Amino acid sequence: MISLVILISGRGSNMAALLDAAGRGDLPVRIAGVVANRPDAAGLATAAAAGVPTCVVDHRAFAGRAEFDAALAEAIDACAPDLVVLAGFMRILGEAFVQRYAGRLLNIHPSLLPAFPGLHTHRRALAEGVRIHGCSVHFVTADLDHGPIVVQAAVPVLDSDDEETLAARVIAQEHRIYPLAVRWFAEGRLQLRQGRVVCAVEQAAHPWLIVPASAAG
Ligand code: GRF
Repeated sequence: MISLVILISGRGSNMAALLDAAGRGDLPVRIAGVVANRPDAAGLATAAAAGVPTCVVDHRAFAGRAEFDAALAEAIDACAPDLVVLAGFMRILGEAFVQRYAGRLLNIHPSLLPAFPGLHTHRRALAEGVRIHGCSVHFVTADLDHGPIVVQAAVPVLDSDDEETLAARVIAQEHRIYPLAVRWFAEGRLQLRQGRVVCAVEQAAHPWLIVPASAAG
């Protein structure tokens, strides 16, 4: 069983999806710790209630990014995780940090990358008039929101959508694909080799990764 550390900044619903999956026995992982960069991150209470050790490394307490990244790495390494999972972690991480966890650092992003890296993805998707939107799990590189893609889920954009309804449709899929990607990693079926994703998974086993309008909520 591998161990993982989850980094959060806020609500932590993706973290909760991972905790739930592990609690149900669907994920062969031990969640060794949850680290937040904000003391008011609501997910901290969720993690504590699930019995997971938490800590805060407040970015505002550090002179710069390098100092923050070093303190964050120290908090992570105290748990000696096999995998580090960013779940709504809203700080840009420097090159040295990303290198330190190369091949064992995952992120989830609420768009079909490489479309809409950065913030406000649902608003931008609606403004562009795309008919298909979604979410992506990717390995983290120093290039923000551009690392090698592990798995994506696509949802329709409906004429009636606003930012809120579209966000709700996407996050439901985030909660499916993140535990899936972590499970593949934990089972040794997912690797980063020479900057490319190698994933020993039958694609046909997961047809729901394209979610039809009738099932997309
Ligand atoms: C998610 O949409 C995630 O993809 C993005 O930030 C949001 C975090 O939500 N990076 P939560 O904290 O997991 O509820």
